[in-house]
Amino acid sequence: MEEFHLTGIVIVGANWGDEGKGKITDLYAENADLIVRYAGGPNAGHTIFDNKGNKFVFHNMPSGALYPDKKLLIGNGTVIDPEVLCEEIDMILKNGYEIKNLVIDECAHMIMPWHRIMDGCGDESKKIGTTKRGIGPAYMTKAERLTAIRFIDFVNEERFIKKLDYVLPIFKKRMEIIGAFNEGSVEEWKRQIMKKYKPISKRLAKYIGNVSLEINNALDNGKTVLFEGAQGTLLDVDHGTYPFVTSSNASIGGCLTGTGVGPTRINKILGVAKAYITRVGEGPFPTEMKDEIGKRIQEIGKEFGATTGRPRRCGWQDIVLMKYSARINSLNSWIITKLDVLDGITPLKVCMKYKVDDKETDIFPRDAELLGKVIPVYTEVDGWETLDWNKIKAFKDMPKKAQDYLRLIEKETKVPIEIVSVGPNKNQIIKVR
Ligand code: GDP
Ligand code: IMO
Ligand code: MG
Repeated sequence: MEEFHLTGIVIVGANWGDEGKGKITDLYAENADLIVRYAGGPNAGHTIFDNKGNKFVFHNMPSGALYPDKKLLIGNGTVIDPEVLCEEIDMILKNGYEIKNLVIDECAHMIMPWHRIMDGCGDESKKIGTTKRGIGPAYMTKAERLTAIRFIDFVNEERFIKKLDYVLPIFKKRMEIIGAFNEGSVEEWKRQIMKKYKPISKRLAKYIGNVSLEINNALDNGKTVLFEGAQGTLLDVDHGTYPFVTSSNASIGGCLTGTGVGPTRINKILGVAKAYITRVGEGPFPTEMKDEIGKRIQEIGKEFGATTGRPRRCGWQDIVLMKYSARINSLNSWIITKLDVLDGITPLKVCMKYKVDDKETDIFPRDAELLGKVIPVYTEVDGWETLDWNKIKAFKDMPKKAQDYLRLIEKETKVPIEIVSVGPNKNQIIKVR
């Protein structure tokens, strides 16, 4: 039997998102041939810097987008806002980069204006603190089936019109029920939508393709495929802190269903986690700091959402959560980001266990209500001084206390650390293995 080529590498967010997946994808993309987004949509904000210092925040586009010769793929598991995607493409072109090899899967689902409106007005979305990008409603229509619009429908005018004729009266009624924006007739809506989206669909049509086939053929031909996760494991609709989650499978399962590859083609799963924990939006967060140190981390780590600008809540490192994430994703290695942000803070607290009803456990509760009640059991470790991380190129040259902090994570989670990130730029990394 012919051997499969196994260079499928997955970058998965191990916390509540914003772990630095963009930077790490950009880094690994250098040695990849294809870079694929597998889940989520413009709720994601992945930040990268090019070598001229220009900042890019990607929402729908894979973070390998600044390599013109790599193939960029947007998988069937994603939801795409076509307007946002065009803005991203414009931003890339305006900065002098080319888009030569973009493929958008024909089965990816489209975020339409009614999805955004519904996401912005419901009580539920306020309670969850969604990004209001239409994510939940778009995945709802995906599961509902007949009211969904896929990329293949969007780029074919006849199919798109047929869809609108079916979908618009239904959404008009739904908007009435929830008291959302509802002015104008269905005919007027249709005219406005066609006017706005016809040029967008014409522009994007050339990118339509079959991502599963692209990836599997590439692997057959010895190419390396990098799968870029969005959001994080604790935001996964099945394995996260439900209902305070997003609406897709952000963890490893979403990589397979969201692109059309089987698990035997993946040979490395990298979990990206911060050296501390952050969360944006509502929901339980056991190690959250509501004090000066939390504020300091927020300021130094520039912990404000890349998509919405909202302040990110900050907390101490959480081993119970890290173990859970390692288990759910079968992680091979950690990539620990933002270690530099902890400079000068001593002691550092690390949550080793949760106390539930006076009993200690290291098993992460799957029920958000229970998670909201646990009491973190901390150990304290010494921090290290503020230093110029750019001068440190090897793990052995790191301050001993920083090495100890990282070794503690490795020891407790039983997952080795591959890379430590110590600044927002691509070259600000230290290889551990
Ligand atoms: P993503 O959604 O996982 O791609 O992460 P975001 O881009 O939303 O947030 C990560 C933020 O941290 C961005 O502003 C990055 O530029 C920045 N960043 C990434 N790695 C590091 C690091 O090691 N140190 C510091 N100080 N900033 C980093
Ligand atoms: P990246 O890919 C951090 C959070 C929202 C909210 C919840 C549901 O940049 O890591 P949604 O709009 O998805 O219905 O919101 O999920 N959320 C994120 N938090 N990073 C993200 O993406 C996120 N995408 C969604 O804040 O709590
Ligand atoms: Mg982000």
